[in-house]
Amino acid sequence: MDYLTLNKEAWNKRAALHVSSTFYDVNGFLSGKTSLNKIELNALNDVQGKRLLHLQCHFGLDTLSWARLGAEVTGVDLSETAIEHANSLAKQSELAATFICRDVIEFGRTVNAEYDIVFTSYGVLCWMPDINLWAQTVANSLKEGGTFYLCEFHPYFDLLSGFSYFHQADGDVIKEGTYTENCDGELTELITWSHPISDVVNALIKVGIQITELNEYPYSPYNCFDGLELGDDGFYYVADSKQEIPLLFEIKGVKC
Ligand SMILES: C[S@@+](CC[C@H](N)C(=O)[O-])C[C@H]1O[C@@H](n2cnc3c(N)ncnc32)[C@H](O)[C@@H]1O
Repeated sequence: MDYLTLNKEAWNKRAALHVSSTFYDVNGFLSGKTSLNKIELNALNDVQGKRLLHLQCHFGLDTLSWARLGAEVTGVDLSETAIEHANSLAKQSELAATFICRDVIEFGRTVNAEYDIVFTSYGVLCWMPDINLWAQTVANSLKEGGTFYLCEFHPYFDLLSGFSYFHQADGDVIKEGTYTENCDGELTELITWSHPISDVVNALIKVGIQITELNEYPYSPYNCFDGLELGDDGFYYVADSKQEIPLLFEIKGVKC
């Protein structure tokens, strides 16, 4: 089975479980809460009237949260189950949004440079076998002067979890349950690739994204890995560690 079919099957199963999880809190979203975290809200503070593209939008909670803040949103995701739920949530919340079911690399080959903002976050890069093709999608989607924003789990934590830090062409075939609390114990097969921060930064530079910020954080807004504990600030940290362990990195840039 090719990598897109394998990952799509796994994400279809995950999306079906995720919509009814307390982790994603769809009811909270429908009652008016944002699903966005203060990290990305601080980074992209004014989206009013902007055309925002959300790459790997899952079932659209973050996309629709940006729409609530006034952005004109488009979300792209590989999983048709996720996109069906995204469209249904847009209707239920009476928010305008366009959702497209497609591989982001394929999407990037035909997109016009029409977006003011490209946003993508938390668990997106490891599904890309070729980080240069992913960066090309970002560049092809953005207008000149448009803003790119990524907040992603830190590859150093992946290394501690047993994955390679550096990229390996073959990727890792893994069998695991999902990260929401209603995980039914079913294991699904997925394939992932590691991308060190230098590869991500260089891929963006090569396609003409001028990087304006690169930040690393020792916390995550999500309790989605084993061995995390809640801090007083509402973020999750690696428990029982003498030193702070990086859990996130964030990149902001502008298309030249
Ligand atoms: C961890 S989720 C994204 C997280 C998102 N921040 C959230 O929690 O709503 C990863 C998403 O990437 C999507 N995905 C994986 N490979 C993809 C590809 N090649 N093209 C488009 N979407 C892909 C999956 O379907 C899934 O919805």
